Amino acid sequence: MGHPGYNVSYWFHYRQHGGPEMQHTNGDTLVTQIKKTPVMQQVKKAVWGLRKKVLVARGGAPSGWYDDVYSHGHEDYVNHYSESRYLPVWEALCERIAPGSSVLEIGCGPGQLAEMMLDKGVGSYVGFDFSPTAIELARKRLPNCRLEVADARTTDLYTSEKFDVVVATEVLEHIIDDLPVLERVPRGAIILATVPNFDYASHVRFFGTVEQVRERYGPLFESLEVATHFHAGDPDGSHGIFYLLHGRRA
Ligand SMILES: C[S@@+](CC[C@H](N)C(=O)[O-])C[C@H]1O[C@@H](n2cnc3c(N)ncnc32)[C@H](O)[C@@H]1O
Repeated sequence: MGHPGYNVSYWFHYRQHGGPEMQHTNGDTLVTQIKKTPVMQQVKKAVWGLRKKVLVARGGAPSGWYDDVYSHGHEDYVNHYSESRYLPVWEALCERIAPGSSVLEIGCGPGQLAEMMLDKGVGSYVGFDFSPTAIELARKRLPNCRLEVADARTTDLYTSEKFDVVVATEVLEHIIDDLPVLERVPRGAIILATVPNFDYASHVRFFGTVEQVRERYGPLFESLEVATHFHAGDPDGSHGIFYLLHGRRA
């Protein structure tokens, strides 16, 4: 009876008497084995597809979605920037900012990159994010900075001061209207942004190649350089690629 590799009646008896979850001979639990069946894989794919359709119809995940992520204290958003898995691409980004520049950051999250840019000598910094929880965390990290709760699609912050550089790391792929967002950056400002080559629950798009990135964003730039970076500790990019965009807004 049951799934190959299991004696299910034995498993129920064993679990009722407090035994640990029974292991399949290949080390997977019964639940994992069920999840791996073709039927369950199809169900998972269908649910994921449905979620994406809803996400796209809403223009991207709402701010509450990010509030939820940030309030769970995931180490990715709590750690110092030097421990971040984004460190290699953040280092490359900081090297492209001239010391003393004024910077506006779109979707600054909890402010780790902001802290790094300030440590590396940017002259002034304004950051915003539409997640109030992200901004609360960023304000704790950087109590002397201007950090605002604002939506990239509607805020007037782009023209509230003159910014030399506008930064947006791992934000554009969360917003259906990413092109109108970049169009709002004043002409002549340097844009430094990253987009990924991998999918995620809140991504509305991702990119397979440098050419795809260029095709989408190139028309908004005077000249656009696209560099490829990997996660910290991932020498061959098998955990995903970040495309770093660098150019002047046309
Ligand atoms: C993956 S996180 C990246 C955070 C940070 N830039 C970093 O690199 O660690 C995406 C961020 O974009 C923010 N975001 C998404 N859509 C936004 C919008 N329409 N306006 C402002 N922020 C937005 C989210 O709240 C979230 O903090």
